[in-house]
Amino acid sequence: MSIHTPLCELLGIEHPVLLAPMAGVSGGALAAAVSWAGGLGLIGGGYGDADWLEREFNAAGDARIGAGLITWSLARRPHLLDLVLDRAPAALMLSFGDYQPFLSRIRDEQTKFIVQVQTLNQAREAMDAGVDAIVAQGTEAGGHGGTRATLPFVPAVVDIVKEIPVIAAGGIADGRGLAAALALGASGVLCGTGFFASDESLASDNAKLTAVCGNGDDTERSSVFDIARGLDWPPDWNIRAMRNSFTRRWREDIDGLVRNLPEEQARFNAAWAADETDITAVIVGEAADLIKTREPAQATLHRMISQAEDHLRRIGRLVKPITKDRDIE
Ligand SMILES: Cc1cc2nc3c(=O)[nH]c(=O)nc-3n(C[C@H](O)[C@H](O)[C@H](O)COP(=O)(O)O)c2cc1C
Repeated sequence: MSIHTPLCELLGIEHPVLLAPMAGVSGGALAAAVSWAGGLGLIGGGYGDADWLEREFNAAGDARIGAGLITWSLARRPHLLDLVLDRAPAALMLSFGDYQPFLSRIRDEQTKFIVQVQTLNQAREAMDAGVDAIVAQGTEAGGHGGTRATLPFVPAVVDIVKEIPVIAAGGIADGRGLAAALALGASGVLCGTGFFASDESLASDNAKLTAVCGNGDDTERSSVFDIARGLDWPPDWNIRAMRNSFTRRWREDIDGLVRNLPEEQARFNAAWAADETDITAVIVGEAADLIKTREPAQATLHRMISQAEDHLRRIGRLVKPITKDRDIE
C-alpha cells in the first residue's frame, strides 16, 4: 500500500512529499536524503550564490533532485537560472516575485516548473502561466510568507486551479498534516520546518537544538531579521522565525533598528559567527511543535507516510452506514 497522487506521477516520485528549498539549509545532502527516501528534495538556492549552488548540486551526487530560488533575487542575478537548469533538476520552484521573464527559458527544458503562492490572485496568475504545480503556502510556514492560513487557503487554491496539482505548505510536518492536506484536495505537501533539524540539514547545531526545544508559540513573523541581514525584501512578505532577544528588542521599533543598523548588524553578524541563537535567526514555523528530535530525513519522511496511511484508514472508518438503531436515536 502507498499514497499515490497525481503529483507523484508528475514528478516521478514514490511519496507526495517535497523538501522545501530552504535557503542555506536545504543543501545537497538533505535534498538527496529526501529524494532517496522516495520524496523530492529541492536544494535551497535562496538569494543565489553560484559557488554554493555548484557545491550543493555536487553534494547531492547521483540523487534525482530539484532546486528552488527566490524570484526577486533571481531577477538581479538572471545568469543563475542557466547554472541551475544546466544541472537538469527534476523540478524548479520559484517563490516570491515575478517569474514571467523566466518562463520561456524554463519551458526550453524538461524540468517541471513549480511556483509557490500566498494569495488567490497569485494562484490565478500561476494557472494562466501554465505552471506544472502550485505550492499553496500558509502563514504558519517557516521562513518568508504571507498572511493566509493553510486550512482555508489550500482548498480555495484547489478550487481555482482545478487540474493543476496543488502542494500544501505551512505547518505540515507529520502524517496528520499530510492526511489533512490530502483531505483538503492537495496532491502533496512541501515541508521545511519538519526537515530543519534533520541530520543532513545545513542548519547549525544550536539552531537545530533551539528548534527541537522550541514550539510554534515561540515563532512570529516580522521584518527584523531581514533588516539585520541587509536584505531588502519586498513588503508583501516577512519572515517567520523563533522569537528571541533580538526580535523582542526591535519588532516594535523598526525605525530604531534602521537608525542603529551598523552597530546592530555587527552584533547580529558576530552572533551568527558564534552560533548564538538568542540573537540570530532560527528560521522555523509553527510546525516546530512537531519536531521532537534530530534524526535522518529518511526517518522523518517514512514516519510521515506511515502515519498518514494510518490516519487516512482511521478517518475512512468514521464513515459508516446509518443503522436502524442510529435512526431511532
Ligand atoms: C529555514 C527556512 C528557509 C526557507 N527558505 C526559503 C527559500 O529560500 N525559498 C523559498 O521559496 N522558501 C523558503 N522557505 C519556505 C518554504 O519554501 C516553505 O514554504 C515552508 O518551509 C513550508 O512551511 P513549513 O516550514 O511549516 O514546513 C524557507 C523555510 C524555512 C523554514
